[in-house]
Amino acid sequence: MSFKAILLEKNITGFSNKVTSLTQEALLKQEGDTLIEIHYSSINYKDALAITNKGPVVRMWPMVPGIDGVGTIINSTSDQYKEGDLVILNGWGCGETHWGCLSQYAHLKSDWLIPLPKNLTPKQAMSMGTAGYTAALCVQSIIKHGIKPEQGNILVTGATGGVGSIAILLLAKLGYSITAATSKIDNIDYLQQLGANHVIDSRTLSEVGKPLQKEQWAAAIDVLGSHALANVCAQIQYGGIVAACGLAQGLDFPSTVAPFILRGITLAGIDSVMAPYPKRVAAWDLLATHLDEQQLNRITHTISLNECQKVAEEMIAGQIRGRYIVDLGI
Ligand SMILES: NC(=O)c1ccc[n+]([C@@H]2O[C@H](COP(=O)([O-])OP(=O)(O)OC[C@H]3O[C@@H](n4cnc5c(N)ncnc54)[C@H](OP(=O)(O)O)[C@@H]3O)[C@@H](O)[C@H]2O)c1
Repeated sequence: MSFKAILLEKNITGFSNKVTSLTQEALLKQEGDTLIEIHYSSINYKDALAITNKGPVVRMWPMVPGIDGVGTIINSTSDQYKEGDLVILNGWGCGETHWGCLSQYAHLKSDWLIPLPKNLTPKQAMSMGTAGYTAALCVQSIIKHGIKPEQGNILVTGATGGVGSIAILLLAKLGYSITAATSKIDNIDYLQQLGANHVIDSRTLSEVGKPLQKEQWAAAIDVLGSHALANVCAQIQYGGIVAACGLAQGLDFPSTVAPFILRGITLAGIDSVMAPYPKRVAAWDLLATHLDEQQLNRITHTISLNECQKVAEEMIAGQIRGRYIVDLGI
């Protein structure tokens, strides 16, 4: 059997990236106990870094990218799943050290999978994908910290991106008042339709700021890192929390301890890649309970494998908005 996939290669002639035909024999060399037909994958920031070779994401060559996938079990030697079950894959090093899901088939470990929630279609699941699942992990950390809607606004940075858009949808459904920080200030209508109450220009967060600034947010979800994260921490109300999950502006964190020791704020690190099974299932349950198709359609674009390169480049340039899902059937 042969099938279509994106293949990333690096050798003495440099980096290359192509949509190509792979064999099942080659795929089965990837460690795993479960063969899956992938129906949809998606383009996350990490996939975009891998596809464009802009960041050190891929640690084994050649690599099939794709940290996200939803598909049907073809066969499995694990007793957790049977032929025909629909499952979701997020992370676990797929697309980094193990062939991922920008491919019509994947060979994966059953321990990495979770069942597709009953009220979600495969397409809806990938409309959210790792971006949505990470947004849910961020929202859960804010709820667990005890932040209630009446305590004030929640700031969401990188608001028009995948994590940002779904975080806004979810927080709005849960009754929170949201301030969206975006570099695309002409996207106010889009952000308000998602549920943002206020929109600010994220460039106000991108320069070096004072260690303690006016207390403005009960909590925040930050996808940017660097000076933006430092400024967000400096603006959190006493006892509040920042869920930090991204590095779109930078990997550094040029902050001081002032907001932590003088305002008692918490910086919660969010990792989707290695999160344990119960946390994943709870995050997907939150998404499945609160998001509906109409809302997802507003933020979702569907593309083919051949269009991934172009979208990945636009994503790294910060030019896209919402979520790009990849239909492996087209
Ligand atoms: N920790 C985890 O497990 C985890 C999981 C998923 C994602 N992430 C990280 O979270 C971040 C967002 O992921 P995503 O999938 O939502 O990506 P995305 O769809 O590309 O969204 C990122 C958004 O950030 C803003 N942005 C991008 N580059 C920027 C820059 N140089 N300066 C300022 N703003 C910039 C843009 O929004 P605006 O134009 O609206 O500002 C962009 O749409 C990435 O860093 C990703 O690696 C981490």
